Amino acid sequence: MMEKLDKNLQDLMWQARERTLRQMQTSFEVDQKTQFNDLVTTVDKDNERFIDQALKKIDPTSQIISEEGFGDQVSSLKGRVYIVDPIDGTLNFVKQKTNFAIMLACYEDGQPKLGYIMDVMNKRLYHGGPELGVWCNDTQLTAPQNLSLRDSLIDINHGILLSSKYDLQTVLKHASGLRLYGSAGIEMINVLEGRLGMYLSYLKPWDLAAGRVLAETLGLVVKSIDKPSLDVLSSNFVLVATKQVATDVFALVN
Ligand code: IPD
Ligand code: CA
Ligand code: CA
Ligand code: CA
Repeated sequence: MMEKLDKNLQDLMWQARERTLRQMQTSFEVDQKTQFNDLVTTVDKDNERFIDQALKKIDPTSQIISEEGFGDQVSSLKGRVYIVDPIDGTLNFVKQKTNFAIMLACYEDGQPKLGYIMDVMNKRLYHGGPELGVWCNDTQLTAPQNLSLRDSLIDINHGILLSSKYDLQTVLKHASGLRLYGSAGIEMINVLEGRLGMYLSYLKPWDLAAGRVLAETLGLVVKSIDKPSLDVLSSNFVLVATKQVATDVFALVN
């Protein structure tokens, strides 16, 4: 059952990639959502409509949470729930035409089951889950090295860096350096593959869901930094990190 569903969802991700590449050749529209640096394009909306409609055919009794409003009003995690980010890193998509992703996750009764992050321009689909392992296209990933904070390049999202909620200067002083990519999906891929020791961010459900499945499957820490546990249905201040970096960071911020 899980293998069949996984195959259908992988196919869907490749179809969404093709669709995205085709639309990038057209003059798509860009609109502001809440402010100048919060954008949405007709490609985000078209992708989401396409993915949500396909999910309803693949798994008719499921519920869908998706960023641009084509999904369901979901208040319970009972049964299968899909979580969709049709373009993650819309600012990069508009301004760089690279460093963006398409993300999809499947949770069952609140438990992470399947995750998909499509790095569109590099033609790489990161996929898997606890029952399947984690893969990049056809290559299985092994757990990254358990780097310490001192030995790590780390990534802290723009919004958290601007806030004074946590003593991030201290965290930064103890790390090898800071790198920012502007797409939660691309950032989490970098943690999965050991190029970053941590990603610290304030993430909405669709920013976190897929990366969480893949990171936890590889034995990485995915943890709220201000709540006892992660909430799949709302935003979280979240740390995705090696076990050692998580220990080092919690010792500094608490
Ligand atoms: C955003 C990106 C960005 C992160 C923001 C997200 P979007 O997603 O992942 O890197 O810092 O918190 O909202 O809106 O481009 O899908
Ligand atoms: Ca957005
Ligand atoms: Ca996103
Ligand atoms: Ca998005």
